[in-house]
Amino acid sequence: MTTEPVIRPAAVSPDGTPSDPGVILAVRDLQIAYRTARGSILAVRGATFDLHRGESLALIGESGSGKTTLGLALMRLLPRAAQVIGGSLRYRWKGDEVDLLTLDPERLRRFRGEACAMVFQGAQNALNPVLTIRDQFIDTDRAHRRRSTRQILEQARELLQMVQLEPERVLRAYPHELSGGMRQRVLIALGLLLDPEVLILDEPTTALDILTQRAIIDVLRRLKERLGFAMLFISHDLSLAAELADRVATMYAGRIVELGPVDDIFYRPAHPYTRALLDAVPTLSGETEALRSIPGSPPDLRNLPPGCPFHPRCAVAIERCRVEEIPTVAVSPGQTVACLRWQEVRRDRRQGGQRTERPDRLGTDGASRTPGETEGEG
Ligand SMILES: Nc1ncnc2c1ncn2[C@@H]1O[C@H](COP(=O)(O)OP(=O)(O)OP(=O)(O)O)[C@@H](O)[C@H]1O
Ligand SMILES: [Mg+2]
Repeated sequence: MTTEPVIRPAAVSPDGTPSDPGVILAVRDLQIAYRTARGSILAVRGATFDLHRGESLALIGESGSGKTTLGLALMRLLPRAAQVIGGSLRYRWKGDEVDLLTLDPERLRRFRGEACAMVFQGAQNALNPVLTIRDQFIDTDRAHRRRSTRQILEQARELLQMVQLEPERVLRAYPHELSGGMRQRVLIALGLLLDPEVLILDEPTTALDILTQRAIIDVLRRLKERLGFAMLFISHDLSLAAELADRVATMYAGRIVELGPVDDIFYRPAHPYTRALLDAVPTLSGETEALRSIPGSPPDLRNLPPGCPFHPRCAVAIERCRVEEIPTVAVSPGQTVACLRWQEVRRDRRQGGQRTERPDRLGTDGASRTPGETEGEG
């Protein structure tokens, strides 16, 4: 017996105000376009999701799916060529509801860092090369509040310890004296200096070797447990994301096509694209099975097909997928999907049963890692 899917009522009032005090960020129908010499392209197409206090949400998808564009919009840091052309972005900050899209410049300046901080994609070179790490902590703090140098450095030391760096050595250093992995840790610590409630990390482990990646994931998990911030973790790597995430959102061609608790996404994916991403994850057997890539080419945002944008690459697409607007439906508690064929996707998966284990927390137990191992990384 199959049950009819139902549209899940959002925990947000229709105007996009977080009505649930547990929701710290409510994104509703967000649309973002880039102006280019060849016309405009819609890079984010109607993104809708909540971020709950203290939760970790992973945003995954192939290159060009709109992850960074969405992340930057959450800090109102979009480049000039980009424009939010629809939807709403609301935070709950210090008990107040804040409409990010209309925030005045001074509050926006405070908001960045104090409410929400971001570690940017490819940011390992973002530290100021002519300042010591010590001075970068001091400058960041002074831009927001009046504290003594002693107080700032006390907190900086504590944060550096939490990211498993030697505070004294690192504070004295210039960025070029640190490895890539160490710089990434410094950036995470700097991001947390003003005690933000939300931390956005855009591909924080890309360009680092696998051991360093795992060490950073481990550090993030511990930091989150200790400090309680909510996290948006952007990645194209579902297996890494699964190690940290409470929930996972899959993005394709600017749309969030599936969203749900990490175990549901991993064991019972309902969108064929999520399933394809899972199948692209190497197996855990220890053998180096080649990473299977997803058949077909990523979508051209200037020229998206009608219907479901994934249909040209989809093995279970039917005629309706090529012509109809695809609604988002709830398929289990907390799991939503934009796919007409989700029941087939799940059925296939059960029968195929190709994946058995979620590769989380395996080989990443920080207890077996000594602090010294983090020193020579990157
Ligand atoms: N400054 C820009 N001007 C024009 N188009 C842009 C600009 N930045 C991004 N885009 C386009 O917007 C789309 C989404 O890009 P975005 O960087 O958000 O994707 P992404 O998911 O973060 O990809 P990646 O995994 O490679 O980081 C892409 O098609 C990209 O070409
Ligand atoms: Mg990106």
